[in-house]
Amino acid sequence: MSHIVITAAIIITIDIRTRAHGYIDMKQLDVASMTGDDLRRIFVSGDGYCLLVNHGIDMQIIKAAFDAAKSYHALPIQYKMSMKHKGDFKGYQPIDTQITHILGRVDNEELLPNHNESVFFKREGNIWPDIPGFQHDVETVANKLENLSQKLVVKFVDMLEISHIASMFPKPLYYTLRLTRYPKMQYEPGRYGLAAHRDTSFMTLLCQDGNQGLSVRDRFGIWHDVPGDMNKIVLVAGLQLRDMTFGEVIAAPHRVVGGEERYAMPFFVMAETNISH
Ligand SMILES: [Fe+2]
Repeated sequence: MSHIVITAAIIITIDIRTRAHGYIDMKQLDVASMTGDDLRRIFVSGDGYCLLVNHGIDMQIIKAAFDAAKSYHALPIQYKMSMKHKGDFKGYQPIDTQITHILGRVDNEELLPNHNESVFFKREGNIWPDIPGFQHDVETVANKLENLSQKLVVKFVDMLEISHIASMFPKPLYYTLRLTRYPKMQYEPGRYGLAAHRDTSFMTLLCQDGNQGLSVRDRFGIWHDVPGDMNKIVLVAGLQLRDMTFGEVIAAPHRVVGGEERYAMPFFVMAETNISH
């Protein structure tokens, strides 16, 4: 007599549109003592994201920049629209007008505009709002983030052991600083504060205002909420770094689903190269 044993197949569906599955205890990288091997453990062997601690940027400087962002986004819409950027990402991006760039898109169904408003600044040629102290506070945090980025670039070059990458980073660096406001938002299918994407930068340093809202996707496709601490900076690798390493470095997908009002301040660092896909 023979028996046929049928093993029930358990199909676990991970709905990436639902809230993250867990609160992540993110790896912390101590900038004061980090090595190229530390970066390798996170960006090659790990999931491609970490929190930077002991990064040398005074929290008062970060808080002042968030206060500046709040003052800016409290301005009348007519004023903000008067400094709308013209495709150069120096100026205002109104709410619900930006769709995630196709290069970084993770899910092609996520094509609705992102529910946030932002103002962008680069090293030169910016439009500054008429708010006392605003330019000083924003330029101060940008300078600090650039100094930190220069240290990280050196460590990434050390990690990658590809010396020519160093020549792709001019001094001063190419960067874009974005001051983003996410309004309070109930989660709805297909609608995001910021749809899942990978950054097109070399790397991104993200400051948060203390409120949780960001989630990141690990190598198994599971989303995790990221702590929103103001004194820790989220570091994610972008597509430039991934492509320079032929995919060895993970550029982690991340998104903002919705929730309470929240401010975020990503600092995008670009290498001097063209991305080819
Ligand atoms: Fe991003």
